[in-house]
Amino acid sequence: MVFIRKLTPTETSIILKLQEFVKAAHAESNSHDYAHVLSVCRYAIQIGKAIPEDVDPFILSAGALLHDIGKTNSVFAHIHGLFGGSLAEEFLDGLKIDPDIRDAVCRVVIRHTPTSMIPPETPEEKAVYDADTLDRLGLMGLLRGFIGKAGAMDVIMTKYMEKRKLDYEKLHYKISKDIGLEGKEMMNAFIQIIEDRLKTRMHSIKDLFSKEGLINSH
Ligand SMILES: [Fe+2]
Ligand SMILES: [Fe+2]
Repeated sequence: MVFIRKLTPTETSIILKLQEFVKAAHAESNSHDYAHVLSVCRYAIQIGKAIPEDVDPFILSAGALLHDIGKTNSVFAHIHGLFGGSLAEEFLDGLKIDPDIRDAVCRVVIRHTPTSMIPPETPEEKAVYDADTLDRLGLMGLLRGFIGKAGAMDVIMTKYMEKRKLDYEKLHYKISKDIGLEGKEMMNAFIQIIEDRLKTRMHSIKDLFSKEGLINSH
């Protein structure tokens, strides 16, 4: 038994209130949608059920639901873990959550992303970090990273693909690596196709002339 208990009726009703808040916030966001949040919840529960450490189901579920709440404001997207931690604290305070539980949930939110520069420590923090990473593996996760970024397409793609290649090794649990293996392999194959295609891009009309044999390349 790795979940230390089941959710109480009170906790379930709090989780449903959290869902309404999170869903409404993500509906207005041009970054991650609520489907991503639900995927992260699903992976987090799968991981929580499989790891040997004790996992609190409320801290895990509330943390997974709130993990990207800071991303719903694009101004703070680059520090969305820390910003999300403050939003989560305010909201959980309003629901009169026990301060120790509230703080544990907020730490899950803060530590789910390397941008906060605070690595996850507790099983709930590590499970949500891994769950979020797992939803980035695979084709949809990769494409999501390309969307909405400003700048030259090849620069965005190269930068984002380099980051994604490192994700799998940063997973904390064996179960996370088992779940993510297929997605990682699919994503790497897709990255290879894009990288091969980017190599054929030309940077000067001389490249075109050389390619078509119109000038002497010597
Ligand atoms: Fe995030
Ligand atoms: Fe996320």
